[in-house]
Amino acid sequence: MSGKLEWRRRDLVNVRGVPMICAFAQNLEEITEHFQAKDDDIVIATYPKSGTTWMSEIVDLILNDGDVEKSRRGAIFQKVPMLEFRVPGEVPPGSEILESVPSPRVIKTHLPVPLFPKSLWDKNVKIIYVARNPKDVAVSFYHFDMMNQLHPDPGTWEEYIEKFIEGNVGFGSWGAHVRDWWNLRQQKNILYIFYEDMLEDPIREIRKVAKFLGKDFSEEVVNRIGQQTSFKAMKENPLTNYTALSSTIMDQSISPFMRKGICGDWRNHFTVAQSERFDEYYQRETAGTDLTFHF
Ligand code: A3P
Repeated sequence: MSGKLEWRRRDLVNVRGVPMICAFAQNLEEITEHFQAKDDDIVIATYPKSGTTWMSEIVDLILNDGDVEKSRRGAIFQKVPMLEFRVPGEVPPGSEILESVPSPRVIKTHLPVPLFPKSLWDKNVKIIYVARNPKDVAVSFYHFDMMNQLHPDPGTWEEYIEKFIEGNVGFGSWGAHVRDWWNLRQQKNILYIFYEDMLEDPIREIRKVAKFLGKDFSEEVVNRIGQQTSFKAMKENPLTNYTALSSTIMDQSISPFMRKGICGDWRNHFTVAQSERFDEYYQRETAGTDLTFHF
């Protein structure tokens, strides 16, 4: 076996206590210890399926002052490379692609706080963290695990819920992820944003991100960014809907990357008992914090 096939459906690998996608686990220690940050790097950090791609396209448009032509210069995974992405023998690793991306670089990562590169902390770069309620994350992640061949097979929905609650999914525990980043937001240069707030008022949230990045736009520019990054526009755009990525990695005939883009799809998947079990999980994970999510 060679290339992508070798990394298909492999079990998660434990890296410093965090279950990781096998293909990505190979040089994670190297990234955490030795990735070289630049002063003007901008990081988009998220737990998977929390609106990373949406925020990536928003940030790219903000940095290009809403110029849609400039935003068409490449696919989202080329413009905003994923730091830990790696399929040995197939494509250059995200950390290598980042070396040739012009500054200011926008870096996507799902890494939890304990695996976040030291150099990015040292440089105190700007970090935009996007969080989403765990019920919708679990549903989205389940569909993603079904279509993404680098991930382990998710099993049945019933089985998946248990794995999610145990934190036995790629990038580990949702609770630890959102909590650790939340707790750091006042010490570090972090803008903490909620997916549900982006859905509720995208223009307000785009303005917030623009301000964090030192931009003050006219209504016309903000509205253009809002239109360009609507779910419909991004679903139809081959540069943002991941159809440019090989189907041997993401098989979109199983589930599209741009799946629903709503809050509350969990109601179509959870039984009453599963929902109650998840509510307990949510209470446990957010206890002692002032972190609250909309469902
Ligand atoms: P669903 O699977 O619930 O539809 P990520 O980019 O972190 O992998 O997150 C993917 C999730 O964000 C998917 O959720 C996807 O549909 C949703 N999404 C992507 N772009 C979006 C947009 N412009 N508006 C709303 N949701 C979006």
